[in-house]
Amino acid sequence: MHAAGGLIAPQLWHVGAVRSQNPEWTPPGPYDSPSGLSAPGQTFGEPMSDAAVADAIDAFGRAAGDAKRLGFDAVELHGAHGYLIDQFFWEGVNHRTDRFGGPDIGERARFAGDIVRAVRAAVGPTFPVIIRLSQWKQQDFNVKLAHTPTQMEAWLNPLVDAGVDVFHCSQRRFWEAEFDGSDLNFAGWAKKLTGAPTITVGSVGLNGDFVAGFGGASSQPDSLDDLIRRLDRGDFDLVAVGRAVLQDPQWATKVRQGRTDELLEFEAKALATLY
Ligand SMILES: Cc1cc2nc3c(=O)[nH]c(=O)nc-3n(C[C@H](O)[C@H](O)[C@H](O)COP(=O)(O)O)c2cc1C
Repeated sequence: MHAAGGLIAPQLWHVGAVRSQNPEWTPPGPYDSPSGLSAPGQTFGEPMSDAAVADAIDAFGRAAGDAKRLGFDAVELHGAHGYLIDQFFWEGVNHRTDRFGGPDIGERARFAGDIVRAVRAAVGPTFPVIIRLSQWKQQDFNVKLAHTPTQMEAWLNPLVDAGVDVFHCSQRRFWEAEFDGSDLNFAGWAKKLTGAPTITVGSVGLNGDFVAGFGGASSQPDSLDDLIRRLDRGDFDLVAVGRAVLQDPQWATKVRQGRTDELLEFEAKALATLY
């Protein structure tokens, strides 16, 4: 990556108590989760003990330190999509009564805050730390952790205080407004409320979402005008692209050179090249 002029950050990802869609990929337990639930009402293992919580926090710190030592340029913590960190954020599966649970999103963000502090301690003050967050869960697309900007502030600002530099705001469709009364998306609100740089993602340049892609659906190239309007307005700082680049490694070059008529349809069979 460096030889080609690129930068690279690994994503540190603990899946927690998510059941794999492929049962053969699910390892034997125990499964870490805040309250022994894979989704609301669905038991999957036991609640994490105090020792297991401390061990997970420590492991994220060690992994980040390893990433820096190995020559990566940043780390990203996977705090989205219903995996372990997100399970702590989510009221529906975090029923803990210790300092990692509670009715307020700020209380349920303490696990992530402790992880960010462990990561920051391991990598030092200047190494970029990104966290990926989503309102939606793979277990339930309609969940929202923050129903209002005030709740979003209570969720995100403690993470900035803990040492997050960049929020990677995962949506399935980047153009969807986060709250009524404004067309700002998640990355737009996160930047407005925290002042931190943000990354937007979700169906950039494509007309169908990635979850449908896993189910075999193809997606047609879509206009980038709305994305560029938001970027120019300063809503967010970076744009992440998934399937379009898996389909076509020349995607970014084509966009930069204005060759948008050459962008390709995403076909699910492009995923087969990954396995
Ligand atoms: C094959 C595949 C693997 C993915 N793996 C991850 C992952 O490891 N971590 C993650 O946060 N998101 C993962 N995602 C989600 C993407 O990062 C991205 O958020 C999603 O594909 C939406 O972007 P797109 O519409 O440009 O594809 C994956 C998506 C695909 C298609």
